[in-house]
Amino acid sequence: MKKIVIFASGGGSNAQAILDYFEDSVNISVVLILTNNANAGVLERVKKAGVAGMSFNKYAFAKANSIHHLLKSIDPDLIVLAGFLWKFPDFLIADFPNKIINIHPALLPKYGGKGMYGMNVHKAVVENGEQESGITIHYVNENYDEGGVIHQVSRKLNTTDTAEDVARKVLQLEHEHFPKIIESLLS
Ligand code: GAR
Repeated sequence: MKKIVIFASGGGSNAQAILDYFEDSVNISVVLILTNNANAGVLERVKKAGVAGMSFNKYAFAKANSIHHLLKSIDPDLIVLAGFLWKFPDFLIADFPNKIINIHPALLPKYGGKGMYGMNVHKAVVENGEQESGITIHYVNENYDEGGVIHQVSRKLNTTDTAEDVARKVLQLEHEHFPKIIESLLS
Protein backbone atom coordinates (compact mmCIF):
# COMPACT_ATOMS: atom_id res chain seq x y z
CA MET A 1 0.00 0.00 0.00
CA LYS A 2 1.39 3.42 -1.00
CA LYS A 3 1.11 5.98 1.79
CA ILE A 4 0.18 9.64 1.44
CA VAL A 5 0.58 12.26 4.16
CA ILE A 6 -1.29 15.52 3.56
CA PHE A 7 -0.44 18.94 5.02
CA ALA A 8 -3.20 21.57 4.96
CA SER A 9 -3.73 24.92 6.68
CA GLY A 10 -7.33 25.81 5.97
CA GLY A 11 -10.68 24.45 4.86
CA GLY A 12 -9.15 21.42 3.26
CA SER A 13 -11.35 21.01 0.19
CA ASN A 14 -8.36 19.61 -1.71
CA ALA A 15 -7.61 17.22 1.12
CA GLN A 16 -11.26 16.14 0.89
CA ALA A 17 -11.01 15.59 -2.89
CA ILE A 18 -7.95 13.41 -2.30
CA LEU A 19 -9.63 11.47 0.53
CA ASP A 20 -12.69 10.85 -1.66
CA TYR A 21 -10.65 9.79 -4.66
CA PHE A 22 -8.64 7.18 -2.78
CA GLU A 23 -11.41 6.08 -0.41
CA ASP A 24 -11.83 2.69 -2.06
CA SER A 25 -8.31 2.30 -3.39
CA VAL A 26 -6.50 -0.90 -2.51
CA ASN A 27 -3.10 0.52 -3.53
CA ILE A 28 -3.04 4.04 -2.19
CA SER A 29 -4.11 5.38 1.17
CA VAL A 30 -4.11 8.72 2.99
CA VAL A 31 -2.55 7.72 6.31
CA LEU A 32 -2.30 11.09 8.05
CA ILE A 33 -3.42 14.69 7.69
CA LEU A 34 -1.38 17.34 9.46
CA THR A 35 -2.19 20.99 9.99
CA ASN A 36 -0.42 23.99 11.47
CA ASN A 37 -3.80 25.44 12.48
CA ALA A 38 -5.68 23.84 15.37
CA ASN A 39 -8.89 25.56 14.15
CA ALA A 40 -8.55 24.54 10.52
CA GLY A 41 -11.67 23.22 8.82
CA VAL A 42 -9.64 20.32 7.53
CA LEU A 43 -9.71 18.78 11.02
CA GLU A 44 -13.51 18.40 10.77
CA ARG A 45 -12.99 16.52 7.51
CA VAL A 46 -10.37 14.35 9.19
CA LYS A 47 -12.85 13.40 11.89
CA LYS A 48 -15.61 12.58 9.40
CA ALA A 49 -13.28 10.52 7.21
CA GLY A 50 -11.93 8.60 10.19
CA VAL A 51 -8.30 9.16 9.24
CA ALA A 52 -5.52 10.15 11.59
CA GLY A 53 -5.06 13.88 11.96
CA MET A 54 -3.06 16.23 14.11
CA SER A 55 -2.20 19.88 14.48
CA PHE A 56 1.30 21.07 15.31
CA ASN A 57 3.04 24.32 16.14
CA LYS A 58 6.04 25.99 14.58
CA TYR A 59 8.42 24.58 17.17
CA ALA A 60 7.41 20.97 16.50
CA PHE A 61 7.70 21.62 12.76
CA ALA A 62 10.88 23.61 12.36
CA LYS A 63 12.89 23.20 15.57
CA ALA A 64 12.07 20.23 17.76
CA ASN A 65 12.06 17.71 14.91
CA SER A 66 8.84 16.07 16.13
CA ILE A 67 7.19 16.28 12.71
CA HIS A 68 10.42 15.14 11.10
CA HIS A 69 10.54 12.04 13.31
CA LEU A 70 6.87 11.35 12.73
CA LEU A 71 7.32 11.51 8.96
CA LYS A 72 10.38 9.29 9.11
CA SER A 73 8.52 6.68 11.13
CA ILE A 74 5.66 6.68 8.61
CA ASP A 75 7.99 6.70 5.60
CA PRO A 76 5.35 8.11 3.22
CA ASP A 77 5.55 7.56 -0.51
CA LEU A 78 4.26 11.07 -1.09
CA ILE A 79 3.86 14.18 1.05
CA VAL A 80 1.13 16.37 -0.39
CA LEU A 81 0.83 20.06 0.45
CA ALA A 82 -2.83 20.89 -0.15
CA GLY A 83 -3.29 24.51 0.82
CA PHE A 84 -0.43 24.41 3.30
CA LEU A 85 0.85 27.92 3.94
CA TRP A 86 4.05 27.52 5.92
CA LYS A 87 7.38 27.19 4.22
CA PHE A 88 8.70 23.63 4.40
CA PRO A 89 12.02 23.52 6.30
CA ASP A 90 15.08 22.66 4.20
CA PHE A 91 15.98 19.61 6.32
CA LEU A 92 12.60 18.03 5.58
CA ILE A 93 12.94 18.73 1.88
CA ALA A 94 16.42 17.20 1.90
CA ASP A 95 15.16 14.07 3.64
CA PHE A 96 12.28 13.38 1.24
CA PRO A 97 13.73 14.09 -2.20
CA ASN A 98 11.09 14.24 -4.95
CA LYS A 99 8.46 13.12 -2.48
CA ILE A 100 6.96 16.48 -1.53
CA ILE A 101 4.52 18.13 -3.91
CA ASN A 102 2.43 21.27 -3.71
CA ILE A 103 -0.55 22.69 -5.54
CA HIS A 104 -0.50 26.37 -6.40
CA PRO A 105 -3.62 28.23 -7.56
CA ALA A 106 -2.02 29.97 -10.56
CA LEU A 107 0.11 29.30 -13.60
CA LEU A 108 3.62 29.50 -12.14
CA PRO A 109 6.05 31.19 -12.51
CA LYS A 110 3.41 33.90 -12.58
CA TYR A 111 1.82 34.78 -9.24
CA GLY A 112 4.13 32.71 -7.08
CA GLY A 113 6.46 33.50 -4.18
CA LYS A 114 6.07 34.72 -0.62
CA GLY A 115 2.65 36.20 0.13
CA MET A 116 1.14 34.74 -3.02
CA TYR A 117 -1.45 32.33 -1.71
CA GLY A 118 -5.22 31.88 -1.80
CA MET A 119 -7.22 35.03 -2.60
CA ASN A 120 -4.07 37.18 -2.88
CA VAL A 121 -3.27 35.26 -6.05
CA HIS A 122 -6.74 35.58 -7.56
CA LYS A 123 -6.98 39.30 -6.75
CA ALA A 124 -3.66 39.92 -8.48
CA VAL A 125 -4.77 37.90 -11.51
CA VAL A 126 -7.94 40.01 -11.85
CA GLU A 127 -6.12 43.31 -11.21
CA ASN A 128 -3.71 42.50 -14.03
CA GLY A 129 -6.52 41.66 -16.44
CA GLU A 130 -5.22 38.15 -17.14
CA GLN A 131 -7.17 36.22 -19.77
CA GLU A 132 -6.44 32.89 -18.15
CA SER A 133 -5.40 31.37 -14.85
CA GLY A 134 -5.09 27.81 -13.63
CA ILE A 135 -3.22 25.42 -11.41
CA THR A 136 0.36 24.27 -11.03
CA ILE A 137 1.31 21.03 -9.32
CA HIS A 138 5.01 21.04 -8.58
CA TYR A 139 7.77 19.53 -6.46
CA VAL A 140 8.70 21.50 -3.38
CA ASN A 141 12.22 22.89 -3.10
CA GLU A 142 13.86 25.44 -0.78
CA ASN A 143 12.20 28.42 -2.48
CA TYR A 144 8.50 29.25 -2.48
CA ASP A 145 6.79 27.92 -5.62
CA GLU A 146 10.00 27.26 -7.54
CA GLY A 147 10.30 23.46 -7.59
CA GLY A 148 10.02 21.50 -10.84
CA VAL A 149 6.60 21.66 -12.47
CA ILE A 150 4.76 18.34 -12.69
CA HIS A 151 1.52 19.48 -14.28
CA GLN A 152 -0.34 22.66 -15.21
CA VAL A 153 -3.91 23.18 -16.35
CA SER A 154 -5.24 26.53 -17.52
CA ARG A 155 -8.73 27.91 -17.74
CA LYS A 156 -9.98 30.92 -19.72
CA LEU A 157 -11.27 33.84 -17.69
CA ASN A 158 -14.01 36.31 -18.58
CA THR A 159 -13.35 40.04 -18.37
CA THR A 160 -16.20 40.24 -15.86
CA ASP A 161 -14.76 37.56 -13.54
CA THR A 162 -14.18 38.71 -9.97
CA ALA A 163 -11.43 37.28 -7.78
CA GLU A 164 -14.10 35.04 -6.23
CA ASP A 165 -15.09 33.75 -9.69
CA VAL A 166 -11.45 32.99 -10.48
CA ALA A 167 -11.05 31.24 -7.12
CA ARG A 168 -14.07 29.04 -7.85
CA LYS A 169 -12.85 28.11 -11.34
CA VAL A 170 -9.35 27.35 -10.10
CA LEU A 171 -10.56 25.29 -7.15
CA GLN A 172 -12.66 23.18 -9.54
CA LEU A 173 -9.55 22.44 -11.56
CA GLU A 174 -7.64 21.57 -8.40
CA HIS A 175 -10.24 19.05 -7.23
CA GLU A 176 -10.45 17.47 -10.66
CA HIS A 177 -6.74 17.14 -11.39
CA PHE A 178 -4.80 16.93 -8.14
CA PRO A 179 -5.90 13.42 -7.07
CA LYS A 180 -5.25 12.06 -10.57
CA ILE A 181 -1.75 13.50 -10.67
CA ILE A 182 -1.06 12.05 -7.22
CA GLU A 183 -2.23 8.67 -8.49
CA SER A 184 0.00 8.87 -11.55
CA LEU A 185 3.03 9.78 -9.42
CA LEU A 186 2.41 6.74 -7.22
CA SER A 187 1.81 4.27 -10.04
C1 GAR B 1 -6.05 26.11 -2.76
O1 GAR B 1 -6.58 26.93 -3.77
C2 GAR B 1 -4.55 25.97 -2.94
O2 GAR B 1 -4.13 25.97 -4.28
C3 GAR B 1 -4.06 27.19 -2.24
O3 GAR B 1 -4.85 27.29 -1.08
C4 GAR B 1 -6.16 26.78 -1.39
C5 GAR B 1 -6.54 25.80 -0.31
O4 GAR B 1 -7.88 25.41 -0.42
N1 GAR B 1 -2.66 27.08 -1.93
C6 GAR B 1 -1.83 28.11 -1.98
O5 GAR B 1 -2.20 29.25 -2.23
C7 GAR B 1 -0.38 27.76 -1.68
N2 GAR B 1 0.49 28.82 -2.14
P1 GAR B 1 -8.44 24.18 0.39
O6 GAR B 1 -8.01 24.36 1.84
O7 GAR B 1 -9.93 24.28 0.23
O8 GAR B 1 -7.88 22.94 -0.22
